[in-house]
Amino acid sequence: MNILIIGSGGREHAFAWKISQSPKVGQLYIAPGNAGTARYGTNIEVGVTDFPAIRNIVLEKKISMVVVGPEVPLVEGIHDYFLADKLLKSIPVIGPASEGARLEGSKDFAKQFMFRHGIPTARYFSVTKDNLEQGISFLQGLKAPYVLKADGLAAGKGVLIIDDLDEAARSVREMLGGMFGQASETVVIEEFLSGIECSVFVITDGNKYKILPVAKDYKRIGEGDTGLNTGGMGAISPVPFADEIYMKKVEERIIIPTVQGLKSDGIEYKGFIFFGLISVQSEPFVIEYNVRMGDPETEAVILRIKSDLVDLFEGVANGNLAERELVIDTDAAVAVMLVAGGYPGDYQKGAVISDLDKISGSILFHAGTKILGEDVVTNGGRVLAVCSKGKNFKEALELSYLNASKIQYKDKFCRSDLGFDL
Ligand SMILES: Nc1ncnc2c1ncn2[C@@H]1O[C@H](COP(=O)(O)OP(=O)(O)O)[C@@H](O)[C@H]1O
Ligand SMILES: [Mg+2]
Repeated sequence: MNILIIGSGGREHAFAWKISQSPKVGQLYIAPGNAGTARYGTNIEVGVTDFPAIRNIVLEKKISMVVVGPEVPLVEGIHDYFLADKLLKSIPVIGPASEGARLEGSKDFAKQFMFRHGIPTARYFSVTKDNLEQGISFLQGLKAPYVLKADGLAAGKGVLIIDDLDEAARSVREMLGGMFGQASETVVIEEFLSGIECSVFVITDGNKYKILPVAKDYKRIGEGDTGLNTGGMGAISPVPFADEIYMKKVEERIIIPTVQGLKSDGIEYKGFIFFGLISVQSEPFVIEYNVRMGDPETEAVILRIKSDLVDLFEGVANGNLAERELVIDTDAAVAVMLVAGGYPGDYQKGAVISDLDKISGSILFHAGTKILGEDVVTNGGRVLAVCSKGKNFKEALELSYLNASKIQYKDKFCRSDLGFDL
């Protein structure tokens, strides 16, 4: 069958690499893709939310499955668009329809969902211009630091963690006043939870689920988790503290109630669920849901999935996921992200990348690259994920760092302390 992957980052390259290994795949297309995905399929220049253009591709290229990488097209209803179209409705989309995608598209919706289904998460209050005073008194009842979240999608920038109460109250007002545009017309005020985070991924057909390898990502630009937030500077899988006992708690208290909750709320959900978790004295709490795989976690996680991903996707589409096999490698896998100098602030694109062929033992997933004439050039803040396996994460990291040092482009940067906290 022909498959279309939507997206253009390291996650989509990792999908393309894995999907292309499936004997079930005929032609593979990536829209829009990047210089890395072009090695495993055909890139098609189209925006991820240009649904009519995607429709044309699907019909023209005789696509029989669409795998959606990023959240924006899901939240904007790509799956619903397919279901509403006579010619597209029988073509499976891996990723939830917009109602299920609200788990990520609205933090207030996600919080209501979790409280409704008894899923452990921080206490919260959702505030708008209409109940500002109640919101401020909820805030005053909390202990510092204060967590303020824009309700809607904000490309990973919509969360403020503030030590001072007055400043937090001021920020609530500024957020409601449009600091994040429409996304912060509602602000979720949360109790701060102190602990260590990890990402748990599940694939579900809306009824049964399978748990994919657990990972930890590193969001801050600076060593020791300091400095500005980024899209992600690297990831490690598995996560030592997310052991069997912890994962049993996660499954019983979080995964099962979530999948059941979607069902009992009448939300048909086919795709990935990403649980952003925090361990508070070894008890798991949900920080957030995402409705797609994480990036860069995917680049590490995918190296540990031995089974045919397309077979699992078929199980999702056909509602018989339980009959499919998911075999996970016991080895560790890591992703080390090479970024552009200056990122996540201002940075330049278009730097020529050389010595990509000097890599050995690692696999490169392109995050922000493109082909320009004979060259591969940088085309984003996050440029390349250098991914490796090893007996443990330290061994895998050593290999990634060795290969990362071989790649050349102007102002290359990566964090050299991944795993420091594990
Ligand atoms: N209630 C909380 N307690 C402590 N830290 C939090 C809390 N909520 C969010 N954070 C921190 O802020 C980060 C971003 O919040 P998250 O809800 O994941 O939003 P997003 O990923 O959409 O920016 C989390 O990874 C976590 O480090
Ligand atoms: Mg998050």
